[in-house]
Amino acid sequence: MKLPIIMAPMFLVSTPQMVIEACKRGIIGSFPLLNARTLESCEEWLSEIKENVSSDQTWAVNYIAHKTNKRFEEDLGLIEKYQPPVVIVSLGYPGKVVETVHRYGGLVYADVANVKHARKSAEAGVDGLILVCAGAGGHGGTLHPFAFFHAVKEFWNKTIILSGAISEGEDILSAQTLGADYVYMGTRFIATTESAAFPEYKDMLLTSTTEDILYSNSFSGVYANYLIPSLQRNNIDPALLKHNEKMDLDHMIDAKAWRDIWSAGQGVTMVEKVQTVAEVIEELELEYLQAVERMRSCVPDFISKQ
Ligand SMILES: Cc1cc2nc3c(=O)[nH]c(=O)nc-3n(C[C@H](O)[C@H](O)[C@H](O)COP(=O)(O)O)c2cc1C
Repeated sequence: MKLPIIMAPMFLVSTPQMVIEACKRGIIGSFPLLNARTLESCEEWLSEIKENVSSDQTWAVNYIAHKTNKRFEEDLGLIEKYQPPVVIVSLGYPGKVVETVHRYGGLVYADVANVKHARKSAEAGVDGLILVCAGAGGHGGTLHPFAFFHAVKEFWNKTIILSGAISEGEDILSAQTLGADYVYMGTRFIATTESAAFPEYKDMLLTSTTEDILYSNSFSGVYANYLIPSLQRNNIDPALLKHNEKMDLDHMIDAKAWRDIWSAGQGVTMVEKVQTVAEVIEELELEYLQAVERMRSCVPDFISKQ
């Protein structure tokens, strides 16, 4: 069974092993190129993935398209050399990436958190839009998925990937019912044995609920969802955090900043144990099938009443 899932790229969390395992189980694995801290190690990661993922299986890299990315040109060069089937662009205008990736026949998906950015990315010629809705881990948006989806549908008829607190099999079926082509899941995969998250981070996810998530722009000037217990662990009182409107892109991709203050989406309640990537996917498939059964029993009832 192949569920339409993209395992979302996560800074300091995603690993080549996660990508390989995801692909082996039939979903799309991805990782941020900047997770490999040097160009050389990035080449090694890309080679390892290419060697271990079959050529008909889709995988993806995440490219930070902002000029402040110190590896802006070099990473684009690696994309050209290793030709990942999908490149996910975040934090910048995707124009140059689209040119590079389309030359070798790959696809570009842009990560967007509002309609204005969705329009800009559409105009830049991307192949898919990732709608980062309210409650998403990392730099989550504020829009409700129904509202965001329908607003984008007004001008976009290509691939849509829905993101934000998608945690269980039934959420995937709901997204498909809405009309999404794929779902994008991050938080559900942080506490996997293959992930690079610290053991304390994984443990924190198991005990955290939606009430432990804080949406704040204090750290980088851009709103993101953080785990309150990770702030407390660093002697930061969430009540004393200051509103910060000055966008600091360096901070957004600064490993030191993300190493201690941990992020998760509102779907964290559904993370209950550390599992392998394969086990998470198996569980999602089971939940998805159960949701299909529930639909089967309620839809005929609706139809018979028409
Ligand atoms: C710890 C963490 C790190 C993230 N790092 C990145 C990143 O480097 N690049 C990116 O485009 N998105 C990043 N994201 C966002 C995810 O790709 C995705 O949009 C989000 O996890 C989806 O919401 P969910 O966590 O509720 O499933 C990150 C999310 C988390 C939780």
